[in-house]
Amino acid sequence: MAEAQARQRGGYTDDGSAMAESGVRFEVDGEIATITLDRPEKRNAMTFATWSGLARIGESLPEQVRVVVVKGEGPSFSAGIDLHMFTSDGVPGQGSFSSAAKSGEAGIEQRVRQFQAGFLWLRRPEIVSIAVVRGHAIGAGFQLALACDLRIVAEDVSFCMKEPALGLVPDLTGTKPLVDLVGLAKAIDICLTARTVHADEAMRIGLAEKVVAGGDLDQAVQDKVAELLSTNREAAIATKRLLQGAQARTLEEQSAAERSEQAARIKALFG
Ligand code: ACO
Repeated sequence: MAEAQARQRGGYTDDGSAMAESGVRFEVDGEIATITLDRPEKRNAMTFATWSGLARIGESLPEQVRVVVVKGEGPSFSAGIDLHMFTSDGVPGQGSFSSAAKSGEAGIEQRVRQFQAGFLWLRRPEIVSIAVVRGHAIGAGFQLALACDLRIVAEDVSFCMKEPALGLVPDLTGTKPLVDLVGLAKAIDICLTARTVHADEAMRIGLAEKVVAGGDLDQAVQDKVAELLSTNREAAIATKRLLQGAQARTLEEQSAAERSEQAARIKALFG
């Protein structure tokens, strides 16, 4: 249907200058939203503005969206934080660590909380987020991939949690999903060595759901999106809520949560 095909721009894109500054493109096509990191000439290095931009996309995501695809333009998903942020001048107009340090610990925590908001919304029950990762996913780039529900990767993928090598901790919400996916020992190994995880290992340890040749990446993502959209929307939301809560609950508590979600489904479907 022509209308369904028509590309619709999300609320965030109304603010052209902030959009350009963030280095992110955002498009909505019916139930599918696509976020593209769009500084390929800098390997999609991210600035504070990128994370604020991601947060704003989350705030204005149209209600009909069920799947959010997060990808990078060019050969790398993202080379992580823009290294100019480490210099005293920073990136023009976007601050630096030096300027952030002047705001004191409480101020820094508040800034980081704002940046984390750009990542946390990708786990909302109402959507399934897919990171489409080719090439480098370093530091903040690795954490953005971890913020998504699923990771479909190309054979040339290389994940690296570089932060500890630079004197920082991973603080863009990546530590919990990493431990949840690969276990504590492997997460310690990956983060505290800042080593690179390639496609074979990523698949083996559960970082990636699927590895495909670079040329097959778009098709693999399209196929996954179609599969995800083939299920009932409300049931999918309720099921994701259940799955997300499962680890923190006892079997009895989880069974009670299943009963409660199912009662609501049966009432909605047959009541
Ligand atoms: N910040 C700013 N610019 C970057 C970054 C970055 N993180 N990564 C790459 N670029 C720029 C390069 O400076 C270069 O710019 P130029 O053409 O103006 O010289 C351009 O992107 C291409 O980079 P190359 O290094 O030439 O590309 P290559 O494919 O050989 O290597 C790689 C890619 C491995 C990603 C390399 O650029 C790199 O190591 N980048 C730094 C990664 C890093 O340490 N990130 C910080 C992680 S910690 C965190 O995110 C909190």
